[in-house]
Amino acid sequence: MSTFEPTNFRIFITRFLGSFITDFYKEYIDSLPIKGNENILEFGSGSGVCSRMLSKKISQQGHLTCVDISSRWLDVTRKVVDEVSKVTLLQGAIWDVPVSDESQQIVFIHFVLHDIPPEERSRVFQTLCCKLAPGGLIILREPDSRGGYSPEWAKMQAAENGLEEISSTHQRTWYTGDMTSFIFRKT
Ligand SMILES: C[S@@+](CC[C@H](N)C(=O)[O-])C[C@H]1O[C@@H](n2cnc3c(N)ncnc32)[C@H](O)[C@@H]1O
Repeated sequence: MSTFEPTNFRIFITRFLGSFITDFYKEYIDSLPIKGNENILEFGSGSGVCSRMLSKKISQQGHLTCVDISSRWLDVTRKVVDEVSKVTLLQGAIWDVPVSDESQQIVFIHFVLHDIPPEERSRVFQTLCCKLAPGGLIILREPDSRGGYSPEWAKMQAAENGLEEISSTHQRTWYTGDMTSFIFRKT
């Protein structure tokens, strides 16, 4: 099994604990400026909690593409998302999956960047920015200091990739610790 792939226990415990904090996800996703007609790329869909909520927000004019490096996590996403015509699931590295540059109005990233090896993180962020159409949004929430990730890193990467900061919100919960959510717009 590759290092990306979770064990059965990890999948079980993530889904079990996740079932107690659906409000944590729902309140966040309900607060986002999603109209429903966008192409949304969800990067690192994992257990699919966000995917399910995002898929319910999009109309027939919109589309949700979930990308995950792990085939096992993507199988979990598949089970919880109604994979109708408006949802596509893609497994692989972001630079290998068939998503055209400048095709997405929203790139959604929730608790993923801190999991990416530091030496790959900038390339991942840059590739995600390329997928975004001009005027499109990167919507990002990550824990403040895990795996070498920091909000300052995100701000720096955004500036380097031609994004302007629309909002930045700091939160803290007992189960996630400190975290910051950002919305960046591609100029
Ligand atoms: C902590 S989980 C978060 C899942 C989900 N976004 C959430 O908030 O519940 C991180 C997810 O990112 C995926 N991931 C990690 N590195 C990745 C990469 N380089 N490309 C795509 N997905 C990646 C993992 O396989 C895992 O599904």
